[in-house]
Amino acid sequence: MITLKNIVKKYITKSGPLTAVDQVSLTINKGEIFGIIGYSGAGKSTLIRLLNGLEQPTDGEVIVNDLRFSHIKGKELREARQKVSMIFQHFNLLWSRTVEDNIAFPLEIAGVPKAQRDARVKELISLVGLDGRGSAYPSQLSGGQKQRVGIARALANSPEVLLCDEATSALDPETTDAILDLLVDINERLGLTIVLITHEMHVIQKICNRVAVMEAGKVVEAGEVLQVFRNPQAPITKRFVSQLTGTEDTNATFATIRAHYPTGQLIKLVFVGERTEEPVISRLVKQYDVSVSVVHGNISQTKSGPYGTLVVHIDGDAKNIEQSLAFLRNVDVQTEVMS
Ligand SMILES: Nc1ncnc2c1ncn2[C@@H]1O[C@H](COP(=O)(O)OP(=O)(O)O)[C@@H](O)[C@H]1O
Ligand SMILES: [Mg+2]
Repeated sequence: MITLKNIVKKYITKSGPLTAVDQVSLTINKGEIFGIIGYSGAGKSTLIRLLNGLEQPTDGEVIVNDLRFSHIKGKELREARQKVSMIFQHFNLLWSRTVEDNIAFPLEIAGVPKAQRDARVKELISLVGLDGRGSAYPSQLSGGQKQRVGIARALANSPEVLLCDEATSALDPETTDAILDLLVDINERLGLTIVLITHEMHVIQKICNRVAVMEAGKVVEAGEVLQVFRNPQAPITKRFVSQLTGTEDTNATFATIRAHYPTGQLIKLVFVGERTEEPVISRLVKQYDVSVSVVHGNISQTKSGPYGTLVVHIDGDAKNIEQSLAFLRNVDVQTEVMS
C-alpha cells in the first residue's frame, strides 16, 4: 500500500549539500504497524514527511494507494493528504481551543457541517478514552491525554494511514505503554496502517509487525520484528537489540558468573517467538540427567511472542552435558557455549 522507491532527499545547508535520506526503498503493507528506528539525525522525520507529501523527494518515488505522491499537485495532492495523517512528539495542539474544538478542527477545514462534526467529535473522544474531558483546554491535560487528543484529531477525517513521529518520546514509560495500547486498538478496530518512528526499541518490540533500521539516511536492515531480533546483521541493529535483551550486560557480568560456577558449562540460549524456556529446560533435566540452573536472563514480550536470552548453568557428567548441548541444537534454540 505504501511503496518507497529509491528515495533520496537532499537539503542545501550553509555547510553544503546534505543527504538526509539516501536511496531508501521500502514497502509497507496495508493494515500493518511498521516501525522505523534510528538515532537522532538518522533521517527518520524527513522520511516520514515524504510519506504525506509535506516534503518532496529529490529523487525517487513515493506511492501511497496507487497514487504517486511525489508527482501529484493541487487538489489531488490535498485529497491524497487527507488519507494520511500524523501525530507528533509535542502534540501540536491548538492551546486556545478546547479538546472538542481541537478534534473538530480538521473537520471544519474539510467543510463538514456542524451537526455531523459534533457527532464525529463525540465518537472520537470516546474512541481515544477522553469521555468527560471534551471542554477541557490542553493545558489542563496530562501528556498522555494530550496525545489522545492528537490521535483523535488525526483520525477525524478517517485516514487510511497514521504516521507517528516519536509520538511517545515525551511520555513516561507507563503512559507510553497506554498510548501504544491505544494505537494497537485503533489499528485492529479500524484496519488503519500505522507507520511509527522512534529511537526506542521498546516501542518496536511492543507493537510493530515489521521494522526498518535507519542510519545516516539509509535503511541498513528491515524485516519482521522477531527475525531482526533473532539475527541482527548491522552493528547498529545489534546495539538496538541489546537494549532489550541485555546482551551487553550478559557479556559484562559473565566473568562474575563464571567465578561462581567453576565446573559444568555456561550456556546462553536465545528464545524467539513461540518457544518458551520452560519446556526446554525441564526436558533437559528429565532426559539427560544434568542439573540446570538459570543464572541470568531477560525475556521480553513482542507482538508475535517472547524474545530474549537466558544464561543457564548445566552441570553433570561430561557425556550428559555433551548430549544436552546436542539436544538444544536440535530443538532450534540458538545456543552459545560461554567458556
Ligand atoms: N529542513 C531541513 N533543512 C536542512 N537540513 C535538514 C532539514 N531537515 C532535516 N535536516 C537534516 O537532515 C538530517 C536528518 O534529520 P531528521 O530527518 O530530522 O532525522 P531524525 O528524525 O532521524 O532525527 C539531519 O542531519 C538534519 O539536520
Ligand atoms: Mg526526528
